[in-house]
Amino acid sequence: MVDPIASLKGKRVLVTGGGGFIGSRVCERLVEAGADVRALVLYTSSGTAEWLDTSPVRAEVDIRRGDLADRDSVMDAVRDCEIVLHLGALIAIPYSYAAPESYVRVNTLGTLNVLQAVRECGVARMVNTSTSEATAPPASPP
Ligand SMILES: NC(=O)c1ccc[n+]([C@@H]2O[C@H](COP(=O)([O-])OP(=O)(O)OC[C@H]3O[C@@H](n4cnc5c(N)ncnc54)[C@H](O)[C@@H]3O)[C@@H](O)[C@H]2O)c1
Repeated sequence: MVDPIASLKGKRVLVTGGGGFIGSRVCERLVEAGADVRALVLYTSSGTAEWLDTSPVRAEVDIRRGDLADRDSVMDAVRDCEIVLHLGALIAIPYSYAAPESYVRVNTLGTLNVLQAVRECGVARMVNTSTSEATAPPASPP
C-alpha cells in the first residue's frame, strides 16, 4: 500500500492548526517525508507556535500567523499550496456550550474560508478533519 504521506514528497502542503496536538505531528511527518510544509498558526502576541515551538522540525516549517475566521489570512496561507490539510479548529466540546458563537466563527466560517481559498487558488486536494463526535457520542464512557 502507498504511504499517503510519502506520496507528498516535494509538494507544498499547508497544515491549518499546524501548531496543534495533531497538526504539529502531521507537520513533522510531512517534513520527514520531504514535503515543503507551511503551517497556519493562530496569531497571538506571545508569538508561540504551540507544539511546533519544541518540535525538531520547527525551523523547516514556513509558519503563517493568522486566524481561520479571517479570509485574508487564510488566502495568504493557502496561496501556492498544492495540498491543504485542515486541522485548525476549536475542539473543546464543553466550552462550545459556553461560547457557541466562537465555534461557529472558527469551525464553520473558518472552514468555509479554507474551502473558498482552496477553490480560488486551484488547490488539487483538501482534507478536512472532522470530529469523533460526528459518529455520535459513545453510549457509555470508554
Ligand atoms: N485529539 C483528538 O483525539 C481528535 C479526535 C478526532 C478528531 N480530532 C480533530 O482533529 C483536529 C485537530 O485536533 P487537535 O487535537 O490537534 O486539537 P488542537 O486544539 O491541539 O489543535 C487545533 C489547532 O487549531 C488552532 N486554532 C484554533 N482556532 C484557530 C483560529 N481561529 N485560527 C487559526 N487556528 C486556530 C489552535 O490554535 C490549535 O493549534 C480537530 O478538527 C479535531 O476536532 C481530534
